[in-house]
Amino acid sequence: MGTDGTDGTGAGDGAAERDAELLARMRAAPVLAGELPRFDPGDAPAAPGPLFARWLERALADRLPEPHVMTLSTAGPGGEPGARVLMLRGVDSADCAFLFASDARSPKGRDLAANPRAALTFYWPGHGRQIRLTGPVAVLGPEAARQDYLGRSPASRAAGFTGRQSAPLSGPEEYERATREARAHVAADPAAVPATHTVYRLRAREAEFFQADPARGHLRLRYARTADGGWDRTLLWP
Ligand SMILES: Cc1cc2nc3c(=O)[nH]c(=O)nc-3n(C[C@H](O)[C@H](O)[C@H](O)COP(=O)(O)O)c2cc1C
Repeated sequence: MGTDGTDGTGAGDGAAERDAELLARMRAAPVLAGELPRFDPGDAPAAPGPLFARWLERALADRLPEPHVMTLSTAGPGGEPGARVLMLRGVDSADCAFLFASDARSPKGRDLAANPRAALTFYWPGHGRQIRLTGPVAVLGPEAARQDYLGRSPASRAAGFTGRQSAPLSGPEEYERATREARAHVAADPAAVPATHTVYRLRAREAEFFQADPARGHLRLRYARTADGGWDRTLLWP
């Protein structure tokens, strides 16, 4: 906002007032109420993978919406950050590793090619839980890409052939034409897999579990891999 109380664009159309009103309404927005699950760090497993599986199992049992949706943060070669939401495509809880899939030519794919490290963040408001994972990212081979791709619905598979993810689009006509062509392509060759469809595997080096608990105090437990392949556990100030 500009020092004159406007939004700095010179539009003078009341945008600053609307922003202030939105902020006031945001502060009054309902918060999630109800019982949160208990988390006892003293009872946490020695490794984070089983704790992730335990929390995910509870999220699924309680039918939390889209618990498999997570934020992937990457950094480009110059260190510029980027973050976006992705689907979790697989878990290896024994090794605390997480799979996701995307187009290798997308901005995130280019970031990962230049700087193969990333962060994944899960937030499950219904449980007051956040899970943060950071570590190196490896590209799995063509067989993993094929299995991931062919496990999708025909519409989702067609999307992989419609164009280059995050490239500029001239308008809906270009999109509709590309979608029609992609659907025909998938129908004619159901086993086709786009060459750039890629499955990535983040192997956590650190994992942090946050449990909100307004009554007793929030809890944070961080796991860090040790040189001998085990895990250190540390409680953190919330
Ligand atoms: C709920 C949801 C799930 C998504 N899942 C994926 C996914 O699994 N893979 C993917 O490439 N993009 C997915 N996207 C789209 C990404 O958020 C993003 O817009 C796209 O991948 C381009 O990102 P980039 O330009 O940073 O590479 C998803 C978006 C939403 C809202």
